[in-house]
Amino acid sequence: MLKECGGRGLCATCHVYIKQGMDFLSGMSRREQRTLEIITSCKPNSRLACQSRVLQDGVVVELPPGMYVKSLQDIEALIGRRAQTDMLHPVTGEVLVESGKLIARSTIKQLENTDFQIGSYMTKTTDA
Ligand code: FES
Repeated sequence: MLKECGGRGLCATCHVYIKQGMDFLSGMSRREQRTLEIITSCKPNSRLACQSRVLQDGVVVELPPGMYVKSLQDIEALIGRRAQTDMLHPVTGEVLVESGKLIARSTIKQLENTDFQIGSYMTKTTDA
């Protein structure tokens, strides 16, 4: 499951909560720790799935509610529709569009800033 996110560092879109078997996963790198620190929905049982190697059976994960927005194209295709679920900022987990709200052009404006912010987060999450 280990992978890089487009070669740009850790994007945190694979954030999961470990319900059971935290000890059955490989250890957390500093890079993963630092990425989790900037996610507002982070809990003590948070992990990045792509960075967690399962060492033994018995791991149970739960996905954070909502859908992470990865790109402008993701949301552009949905303009004029209502969000079926909360749409979340890919790094902070902040709700960009609440479930049931209309997706508008202004949502794209928010995401333009998001892309910019992701770029700056990435430069901070390189390996120590
Ligand atoms: S897929 Fe990007 S951090 Fe896991």
